[in-house]
Amino acid sequence: MRVQAAGEPLVLDDDLVIAGDNRAVLDALPDGGFDLIYMDPPFNTGRAQTRDTLSAIADPVGNRVGFKGRRYRSELLQRLSFDDGFSDYLGFLEPRLARARELLAPHGTLYFHIDYREAHYCKLLLDEIFGRAAFLNELIWAYDYGAKPRRRWPAKHDTILVYVRTPGGHHFDPDAVEREPYMAPGLVSAEKAQRGKRPTDVWFHTIVPTNGREKTGYPTQKPEGVLRRMVAASSRPGGWCLDPFAGSGTLGAVCRQLGRRFVLVDSNPVAVDVMRDRLQERGGLGAVEDAVITGQG
Ligand SMILES: C[S@@+](CC[C@H](N)C(=O)[O-])C[C@H]1O[C@@H](n2cnc3c(N)ncnc32)[C@H](O)[C@@H]1O
Repeated sequence: MRVQAAGEPLVLDDDLVIAGDNRAVLDALPDGGFDLIYMDPPFNTGRAQTRDTLSAIADPVGNRVGFKGRRYRSELLQRLSFDDGFSDYLGFLEPRLARARELLAPHGTLYFHIDYREAHYCKLLLDEIFGRAAFLNELIWAYDYGAKPRRRWPAKHDTILVYVRTPGGHHFDPDAVEREPYMAPGLVSAEKAQRGKRPTDVWFHTIVPTNGREKTGYPTQKPEGVLRRMVAASSRPGGWCLDPFAGSGTLGAVCRQLGRRFVLVDSNPVAVDVMRDRLQERGGLGAVEDAVITGQG
């Protein structure tokens, strides 16, 4: 384990998973070092984000009834959780976003992932920090999963605000992104329909499937398919990508697949464990080290 003192610059010579508050960690990273920064902070829902993994155990007096009337009880195997309530949410984000801008290379791009509760306030804050000319896109990630209230339209999308370090000077390669089927293939030639189309700013993509290969059990884990588009389009092979709110390490997993380098930060020790397991599974942990930033919080 590498132990890093506060104020000492971090050298980018290897992929890194860093345990610590990103406020201090971001200060230690090199200015202009990153092609892409993906930020998926807690959404300020006002409640802890928790995911339980339950197991059904056969029990003649259990409270769950299954196939052919057999009774079961639920046993909690694992509870993964992080806090998600802030009295001054924008005050929390502001210094981190301002520092993120400094960390971007001149051709670099920030993808800021948020939901409908805070998206509009965050847009104004980002305009202030980056300048309106640096606003590139508002991406909508639409999914269709979970409870559907009957008193309003069920909210089934997240918003990803995209800003560049230098207006007009950013790296963006739409041809590096996997094409998708046309919505109405009958309206285009057979050849075009066969080739598919470049994705637009509305991304229909399932959440992480409950029993899928990429599922870690970490609450609010984002699908690799959504991050793959960002990394493929906005970073170069071998370029550095940063996730200051890394959770289960989705950005690291995608960087591994696409041949990019990464720095992942999270203040929750459980997230750091989950990331180590996940990245170890995908091709060895040899390249991943810990750097504990000590000192300021
Ligand atoms: C929405 S989750 C990120 C999920 C992640 N994108 C994924 O795919 O798994 C937000 C994460 O930010 C972390 N976090 C919250 N405040 C932090 C801080 N000040 N410094 C570092 N990490 C923080 C939480 O522990 C949580 O894991």
